Amino acid sequence: MYLFKRVRDLQAFLQPFYDKNRPIGFIPTMGALHDGHLSLVRTSSKVANNVCTIASIFVNPTQFNESSDLEKYPRTPAEDLIKLAKAGCQAVLMPSVEEVYPSGLNTKVEIDFSKLGSVMEGAHRPGHFEGVAEVVKRLLEIVQPTHLYMGQKDYQQVLIVRKLVETFKMPISVEMCPIIREKDGLAMSSRNIRLTPDYRAKAPIIYKTLQDAKNWIQAVSIDELSQKALSQLEAEGLRPEYFQLANAQTLELIADQNDAKQIVACVAAWAGDVRLIDNMII
Ligand code: PAF
Repeated sequence: MYLFKRVRDLQAFLQPFYDKNRPIGFIPTMGALHDGHLSLVRTSSKVANNVCTIASIFVNPTQFNESSDLEKYPRTPAEDLIKLAKAGCQAVLMPSVEEVYPSGLNTKVEIDFSKLGSVMEGAHRPGHFEGVAEVVKRLLEIVQPTHLYMGQKDYQQVLIVRKLVETFKMPISVEMCPIIREKDGLAMSSRNIRLTPDYRAKAPIIYKTLQDAKNWIQAVSIDELSQKALSQLEAEGLRPEYFQLANAQTLELIADQNDAKQIVACVAAWAGDVRLIDNMII
């Protein structure tokens, strides 16, 4: 596996693939890799038969709305590189902030994401999706992949990136891959390693509540369902920020089960000082 720190070196490595129109799979990450990330790498390299699978590790400062969150974000680069090599990744880009955002280059993205950007994570983390759109657009321009692999755990992020790719007419197919869970149902996340043992034991209530929501939706109104879900999370000692049901395509919040053909339930909750998110198509 090759490790590149400079954009121009990675592009020189990729030139023969571009010349021959070969499929390139790309997995952007912020490091602290777990099986969820590695499943994306494996999908790209083994299942989808991309000739080349590239990952990036870059903790993007522009998507953190709180500087303390950026400082506390786990960083495990040595372990990450070993995991990527084992999973079948051919090259990794680990750029500096200056490589991604060189002075003089305007990387800001101005798109109206409408509901996709204003509800849930968009409402609770102001500026977050602007930062995600900025870095993903820049990384896609650098790597020029044919396939982009992202995890369903960040459901709203995947829809935002699809809209970005569509708006800029980039010839890239955006693949949403299933959430990978621990045995007890907790969605894998780089943030999980920061959970105290007590909150680690409580956190699976998030998955259980999403599963319960699947059953509750037959019996109660959307309002009641959200209230039941919030109460269940609180009873376990978590501090939920939201539990919302939305149209799975547009993310418009729904008031009635007949408002959308496909409904996604999305949740964000604090387990101590760690913010966890999860979702399920119900
Ligand atoms: O999901 C993430 O880890 C990040 O938001 C991403 C897509 C790598 C952009 O920094």
